[in-house]
Amino acid sequence: MNLPNMKEAKIRTNNKVEHINLENNIPNSFEGKKYFLRTYGCQMNVHDSEQIRKYLEEFGFTVTEELTEADIVVLNTCAIRENAHDKVFGFLGRCKHLKREKPELIIAIGGCMSQEESVANEIKTKHSYVDIVFGTHNIHELPNMILEANKKLNINVYSYEGNVYENVKYSRDSKITAWVNIMYGCDKFCTYCIVPFTRGKQRSRKMENILDEVRELKALGYQEVTLLGQNVNAYGKDLDESYDFSTLLENVAKIGIPRVRFVTSHPWDFTDEMISLIAKYENIMPYVHLPLQSGSDRILKLMGRRYTKKEYLTLFNKIKEKIPNVAVTTDIIVGFPNETEEDFLETLDIVNKCRYDSAFTFIYSPREGTPASKIKDEITYSEKESRLQRLNEVINKYSLENNYKYVGKIEKVLLLGKSEKDNSKLYGYTETMKLVNVITNKDNIGKIIAVKITDAKSFSLDGKAI
Ligand code: SAH
Ligand code: SF4
Ligand code: F3S
Repeated sequence: MNLPNMKEAKIRTNNKVEHINLENNIPNSFEGKKYFLRTYGCQMNVHDSEQIRKYLEEFGFTVTEELTEADIVVLNTCAIRENAHDKVFGFLGRCKHLKREKPELIIAIGGCMSQEESVANEIKTKHSYVDIVFGTHNIHELPNMILEANKKLNINVYSYEGNVYENVKYSRDSKITAWVNIMYGCDKFCTYCIVPFTRGKQRSRKMENILDEVRELKALGYQEVTLLGQNVNAYGKDLDESYDFSTLLENVAKIGIPRVRFVTSHPWDFTDEMISLIAKYENIMPYVHLPLQSGSDRILKLMGRRYTKKEYLTLFNKIKEKIPNVAVTTDIIVGFPNETEEDFLETLDIVNKCRYDSAFTFIYSPREGTPASKIKDEITYSEKESRLQRLNEVINKYSLENNYKYVGKIEKVLLLGKSEKDNSKLYGYTETMKLVNVITNKDNIGKIIAVKITDAKSFSLDGKAI
């Protein structure tokens, strides 16, 4: 893997992870100025953007959705698939244009793409109007970089080590549901995946710090927390402590926040104890995102996923059996290099057995530096597209089928805000993470209420407060 090793980048060679308390004293030096923040990618980035926004707001910037009004533009990027790259550089083109009219505009790029050496080089050679490139390990250094922003491109990206920072402040998107990082990075190194390179090795936060954060969120009236990590059930394995994810999950549940969720869990680290805890605690939501990636043992092995189709199915069935009314969703990649029709049929077979509540499906995208990207691939892109389409048809059929089972039932729904499609309704989620558009009183935002489900679609339910 090409890691950022350009002269400007600091390379951390020390393998020891440090747990560091951040100091947060940011001068109010941009009063009256505006920021435009765009986030690509997964929940990790969404949550990192809450940290970025906190810094911007402390500086005195206020948000704008209009790029042309911005005094600073921050792009929090994703590197998981190739097309993310094109989107970001397309957008940068617009920023360049803007900077011609407004030379004092600050342009900052962070997130997973910044960690790729090829991207940093591309910015250096073709987009030197950019002011700041920061990485995933040093978001806390963004304030200083903004203060020092001048005409010279400042690339400040660490390589893939990294520490754990505590006392991080966030400007959270919601006052009802909150993300809580429990770990950073990933040690799994699935052969197709860039995350272990862009996010570094697995680093868990200490349990007490996580529990303190959850207690604080509870005191602020939050109704839901989602424990966040690339591989949450490997939590703690990198620490010299006796606790693991189950210990953490149980302790979080005991704090008494009405809803506790977690993403993402890897099938390989899923324990019976986790299943028992989800079944036992009413406030641990009966919802599991269990990425499959492929149903073919041959492909799973090439992917480095560490489980077979049979082992996955055994785990899946145990989850379904032991947790009443649980919903299970998944991620699937089609078109891994040289995936045959037979391999693909194995994936369809497992989907037909698991009948997922829903799934995120992707066409394999080669990522530079990952082992899979070196495999010579004989399968055409149009074949991959056709497999994706065939897969999606089956997935959507089961989503609808599962959703129909809710019609006529009464569900507890946490209401989050006005429904986008129909402003007279509110939207919220069932315990099983089904999106529901609800006819109810506006005062119910932020509350968990009983809702009678009246209709089902592939991606949402309709309901009425009772
Ligand atoms: N840590 C999570 C996944 C993070 S990435 C896990 O292991 O489950 C989210 C999803 O993106 C993955 O589950 C996978 O399905 C998809 N993905 C990752 N790398 C990809 C690639 N190179 N091409 C296509 N999809 C990819
Ligand atoms: Fe990527 Fe695999 Fe880690 Fe998930 S578990 S982030 S797919 S390497
Ligand atoms: Fe993308 Fe980085 Fe998340 S690559 S999916 S933003 S961890």
